[in-house]
Amino acid sequence: MMPPAIEELLRPELKKLVPYEPYRREGMIMLDANENPYPLPDGLYEEICREAAARQLTRYPDPTAEELRREIAAYAGVEPEQVVVGNGSDELIQLLLLTFGGPGTFSLIPYPTFSMYAVHTTITGGRVIAVPCREDFSLPLPELAEKISSPEVHITFLASPNNPTGAVFGEEELRFLLAKARGLVVVDEAYFEFYGRSFVPLIKEYPNLVILRTFSKAFALAGFRVGYLIAAGEVTAQLFRTKQPYNLNTFSQTAALVALKRRDLYRPLLQEIVAGREELYRALFLMPGIKPFPSWANYILFRTEKKPAPVVHRELKERGILIRNLHGAPGLDNCLRVTVGQREEREKFLLALQEVLG
Ligand SMILES: Cc1ncc(COP(=O)(O)O)c(C=O)c1O
Repeated sequence: MMPPAIEELLRPELKKLVPYEPYRREGMIMLDANENPYPLPDGLYEEICREAAARQLTRYPDPTAEELRREIAAYAGVEPEQVVVGNGSDELIQLLLLTFGGPGTFSLIPYPTFSMYAVHTTITGGRVIAVPCREDFSLPLPELAEKISSPEVHITFLASPNNPTGAVFGEEELRFLLAKARGLVVVDEAYFEFYGRSFVPLIKEYPNLVILRTFSKAFALAGFRVGYLIAAGEVTAQLFRTKQPYNLNTFSQTAALVALKRRDLYRPLLQEIVAGREELYRALFLMPGIKPFPSWANYILFRTEKKPAPVVHRELKERGILIRNLHGAPGLDNCLRVTVGQREEREKFLLALQEVLG
């Protein structure tokens, strides 16, 4: 018998998925992934290592991440039962869909936004209803309201601040949607610490509201892969059924715990990033041929009006500066996104951009 063609075994809905491409970043100025550009605060890495060494790294990690969940709960003002931690918030997006989505269900997603909501919907067998945002990237409320009340829409994904636009929405808008939603409404607050406003308090009133957060951005722990979600106990109880028992390794649990306990050490870095964002916005605003969009996160989306964005992106890369090219994504013609780097990185980026624009 002939062996089967492996591609024919693949679930048909996965055929269009493109693998995440590895790319070289070493030696470049990395302003493409919205990380915190600073090293960890003084002494923190050593403290993480000391703490981790005191744990039994030869044994499986705590499957409930009890200590970390307790610390997160205190940080967010909720109960530990309301917190689920994951291998980055990417894992939690998939876990939510594995648990509440799947074949026959839809995810409602206003776009442009973070691509993983749609990717994981497809991977888990659900389908996407994509609704375009307004031209200023605000939420298309009437269109969302119409769709969100459908019983097949099991999950709606909203991000505030949104990636890549940097836009936020208000409590009134969220309440308007929550009042109509038949499924879960996930608000991704990955960039919460750069903005300062959270919807966590609304969970008391809306048991279908889920908040997603991460240690990858403000806490500068992207390489450790730690994310968390906060929701009503009814929601987290279901997620604990489906979560892999050892999804978060001991070293990463320890790193997030130590970082959170020492969160005061991050304050000057966060202030510096927010001030840097305002400076960068002003500089881009004054640059002929560039239209930046206001942002409440640690990055700025801008449109190139004189030169095609892919060319600007390539020419910046040739000068050692990596930013994100979004041209080609719906609603983002000639758009690029730059992370707020350290002062010197910002200056180099602005100089290079000026040079590229001629
Ligand atoms: C809006 C948003 N959510 C989630 C993530 C993923 O974060 P994590 O590193 O926790 O998987 C990102 C990363 O860029 C993001 O921009």
